[in-house]
Amino acid sequence: MTLETERLILRPWEEEDAEECYRYARDPRVGPAAGWPVHQSAEESRRVIRDVLMGPEIYAIVLKETGKPVGSIGLHRNDQVSGDDEMELGYWIGVPYWGQGLVPEAAREMLRHAFLDLGLNRVWCAYFDGNEKSKRVQEKLGFRYQRTENISVQQLGEMRRDHVSLMTREDWERMYG
Ligand SMILES: CC(C)(COP(=O)(O)OP(=O)(O)OC[C@H]1O[C@@H](n2cnc3c(N)ncnc32)[C@H](O)[C@@H]1OP(=O)(O)O)[C@@H](O)C(=O)NCCC(=O)NCCS
Repeated sequence: MTLETERLILRPWEEEDAEECYRYARDPRVGPAAGWPVHQSAEESRRVIRDVLMGPEIYAIVLKETGKPVGSIGLHRNDQVSGDDEMELGYWIGVPYWGQGLVPEAAREMLRHAFLDLGLNRVWCAYFDGNEKSKRVQEKLGFRYQRTENISVQQLGEMRRDHVSLMTREDWERMYG
C-alpha cells in the first residue's frame, strides 16, 4: 500500500533502496536513538531492508521532490503491544532532513491509516530517556504520557529507560476526526 501527504510518499521498502538507506543509517545520531545499531555497509542496509523493513505496515518516507527515501515509519507489534487492536508507532529520518516537520507529517497520515484503515483502537509510541526530539514529536502529535519503564534493548544489548505514550481512537477522533 502507498500513502501520501503534502510533501511525502509513504511506500513499502525495496532492496534497491539499500544505498539511500545506508546514506542515513550510517550516521550514529540515527539508529541508536531508536534502538538499533549504526549500519556498517550498504550490504547491511540491504539485509535490514529485506529482514526487517519489508515487514507489514513499515513504509519508506520518500520525498516527493526527489523521489528518494530519507527515513522510515511503521506500526509494530512487540512484547508490550500484542493485542489485535493496538500497535506501536516507530520512526526515523536522516539527519539532513531533521527539523522540517517531516516525521510529524508522515506520522499524522500513519495515525489516520491506523485508526481508519486498520481499525486499531490504540497506538502506542515511546522514546528513550534523553531523546528530546522524539519526545517533541509525540507531544506535537497529541500522544498522552502513560508510564516509564526499564527495558532491555536487544539489538544494542543494553537497558534503557523508556517513556511510553498512548493515543486512543477517541483521542484521535477528538483531535483529527
Ligand atoms: C526524532 C526525529 C524522528 C524527529 O523528526 P523530525 O522530522 O526532525 O521532527 P520535527 O521536525 O518535528 O522536529 C522535532 C524536534 O527536533 C528538534 N530539532 C529539529 N531540528 C533539529 C536539528 N537539526 N538538530 C537537533 N534537533 C532538532 C526540535 O526540538 C524539534 O521540535 P520543535 O518542532 O518543537 O522545534 C528525528 O530527529 C530522528 O530521526 N532522530 C533519530 C531517530 C529517533 O530518535 N527516532 C525516534 C525513536 S523513538
